[in-house]
Amino acid sequence: MDYRNMMDFRGKSVLITGGTGSMGREFAYAFASCGADVAITDVNEAAAEEIIEKCKSYGVNAYFIKCNLLDVADINNMVNEAVARLGKVDVLCNHAGFNNRKPAIEYTEKEWETLIGVDLKAIFFVATATAKYMLSNNIKGRIINTASVSAARGHKNLAIYAAAKGGIRQLTKVLAHEWAESGINVNAVGPGYVITSQTQHYLDDPATREALLSHIPVKRFGTCGDIAATVLFLASEGSSYITGQTVFVEGGRLID
Ligand SMILES: NC(=O)c1ccc[n+]([C@@H]2O[C@H](COP(=O)([O-])OP(=O)(O)OC[C@H]3O[C@@H](n4cnc5c(N)ncnc54)[C@H](O)[C@@H]3O)[C@@H](O)[C@H]2O)c1
Repeated sequence: MDYRNMMDFRGKSVLITGGTGSMGREFAYAFASCGADVAITDVNEAAAEEIIEKCKSYGVNAYFIKCNLLDVADINNMVNEAVARLGKVDVLCNHAGFNNRKPAIEYTEKEWETLIGVDLKAIFFVATATAKYMLSNNIKGRIINTASVSAARGHKNLAIYAAAKGGIRQLTKVLAHEWAESGINVNAVGPGYVITSQTQHYLDDPATREALLSHIPVKRFGTCGDIAATVLFLASEGSSYITGQTVFVEGGRLID
């Protein structure tokens, strides 16, 4: 094992969904700074240009591909376009997702469909479209799905999100099992509370902040960098004997 160069991703190509979001863009910077070419995809293209320019400043190729993950045909086109632009895809960060907090009895059918559509169904179809490409091109790839501590705990007001993230945890095991012999490792990262555009408002409330921190042994919220570092490791040679796992990055939140 070349420990010193474990995070050298020169010659590798990485596809990141949710790539214009807070954590997704940090993943892009992390891989680009380690030498990988990156393609980021998102339905929101507002910050895409700036993110692509920053990635390119590391001397790599970087592309933005617009895609609405609620549409499976759009997913298939996006994966094909990523392969065409990058030349290949070695690593997939299957990362896009969102939540919508409310008591279970208040959700509508439409909200169920959208949450499950982005947070679970799209995870499956992005993973399978990418794996079809990897399998038919003999790519010993890495797929890293983004779950959450909600995959392991029954936090109130997150019923559909928790169902989706728990589903990702199980899906990760099955897909890892199916593709292990072909050399594709499938793992998930399970962030705890990370300050992002999605959580900033919620975590800024002093009472909520206090209550949440009282359950986090390291007494701080996570950073996008905390999660990106774990994703880099799961994409690296150093993790080649890890597959089917959800690695929780949560400051000890799940200890008790
Ligand atoms: N922030 C946290 O504390 C936290 C904790 C656990 C897990 N997560 C997970 O991390 C991931 C990123 O979260 P974030 O906090 O960086 O949020 P974010 O909102 O900054 O990023 C999510 C991205 O997903 C994209 N997206 C949503 N719907 C889409 C669709 N239909 N098609 C294409 N793209 C779509 C959004 O446009 C956005 O850019 C999510 O999967 C989230 O569930 C976040």
